[in-house]
Amino acid sequence: MQYAAVNVNGRISDAATAVVPVFDHGFLYGEGVYETLRTYNRRPFLLERHFDRLRASAAAIGLTIPLGDREFAERIDATAAAAPVAGECYIRLLVTRGVGDLSYDPEVCGEPTVIIIVKPHAETPAETRARGIGIIVSSVMRNHPAAVDPRIKSNNLLNNALAMQEALRRGAKEALMRNHRGEFSECSQSNFFLVSGGEALTPPLEAGLLEGVTRDFVFKVARSVGVPARYAVLRDADLAHADEMFITSTTREVLPVTVVDGRPVGAGAPGPVTRALADGFRARVNELCREPARSQA
Ligand code: PDD
Repeated sequence: MQYAAVNVNGRISDAATAVVPVFDHGFLYGEGVYETLRTYNRRPFLLERHFDRLRASAAAIGLTIPLGDREFAERIDATAAAAPVAGECYIRLLVTRGVGDLSYDPEVCGEPTVIIIVKPHAETPAETRARGIGIIVSSVMRNHPAAVDPRIKSNNLLNNALAMQEALRRGAKEALMRNHRGEFSECSQSNFFLVSGGEALTPPLEAGLLEGVTRDFVFKVARSVGVPARYAVLRDADLAHADEMFITSTTREVLPVTVVDGRPVGAGAPGPVTRALADGFRARVNELCREPARSQA
């Protein structure tokens, strides 16, 4: 196990000794919500956005986060300070229903369990960024929004894990999923963009997807670097017209996709629009992370 500091309900320990009771409904039923953050200059990036989404996810499953933002942020800082991490941190926040008897009734549980994991952030190698990654279009359909809404960032990740397992079996780095209408929604751990005619296009929320913090941020970056970006319903037929593709996530930022299902995208190399957005993203991060923590817009 990688070095990590783990905070369970305020108590910090290391990865090997951190435990959650078997009767925690997060373990029994996957009833919980989470966020993944990373630091730049050792500061959690867009922390408020992640708190907001965590609270929205929790509300959607009838769970109340038992900490205010300030207390939560202090707990994150304390955990990061205890983590044996020299460089940038990966931070995972988890809040589960808590411990209770075997029942779907939330009333049987006491306080929610609050977990913070801090470990080293694994930077995407420069070589991978320069070459781009290969992805597949998965045979696993993204959860129907009327079943488990993908807008909820839930610990119940079987849908995502099954899609990613398929990608790994086929030697790919990410799995793009379709929704129940056959439109593209998102990838197993990231949002999806396609570039056509110089425009960056990404599926709308109605396609059933997580509203990525990075996806939103990329729209701002696109405005500042002069790249037109908009929401668009995307289907298999659109892959043929794609000049470029990329995925976005907290851990992978703007990452070029150069192969889909074994076939090259456009020229088969990261294109100018993707590069402009990836560079613009980094430039904006550098600006924001020079400012005091927790004042990022
Ligand atoms: N994944 N879609 C899904 C299904 C995701 O799991 C993620 C994030 C995203 C991108 O969201 P954001 O830009 O806010 O990171 C989209 C994180 C990194 C994870 O699962 O660890």
